[in-house]
Amino acid sequence: MFYSVIYQSKAQPDFNLKKIELMLLKAKRKNKRLKISGCIVYCNNRFIQLIQGSKADIQQLYSEIRSDNRHRQVTTLLEQSSEHKIWSDWSMALLDFSGDSKQIMYSRILLESYLGNVNQNEKNSEAFKVFRSSVDSLLRESEPYTVG
Ligand SMILES: Cc1cc2nc3c(=O)[nH]c(=O)nc-3n(C[C@H](O)[C@H](O)[C@H](O)COP(=O)(O)O)c2cc1C
Repeated sequence: MFYSVIYQSKAQPDFNLKKIELMLLKAKRKNKRLKISGCIVYCNNRFIQLIQGSKADIQQLYSEIRSDNRHRQVTTLLEQSSEHKIWSDWSMALLDFSGDSKQIMYSRILLESYLGNVNQNEKNSEAFKVFRSSVDSLLRESEPYTVG
């Protein structure tokens, strides 16, 4: 059994893409060590992140993430046990929707392929549904910047 958390938050103004990428380099190493996987979407200065791993590790990491002052307004969208991990091979995939229209179009294609390459059991899971619908609403709310 695994444990899943999905949250949404708002990046602090000075926490830009360069700094996010640097932070993720370190985060990926730690996630790999703890067998934590997931995906983080960055759009309109907001994050939606899915983290999945053992219950103890996810609860510990989530409490660290919540108290991280590089973002604020951390809102839990889902927190529950899951039978599987959705993208078990990824220590943390970043989908960046903060760039120009070419970059956004590229991220949209990546997102579609990430969502498409999930098996049917996972597609039926609460974590998958909540992740997909919250990312959809974030992208929709952020239009016209993200129409690609
Ligand atoms: C939006 C956001 C997402 C983060 N995601 C992760 C993550 O997936 N894994 C991780 O180890 N740290 C992540 N962090 C960093 C943690 O808040 C924390 O700084 C880190 O886990 C501490 O690592 P340490 O044990 O090496 O001190 C994230 C921080 C922010 C602001």
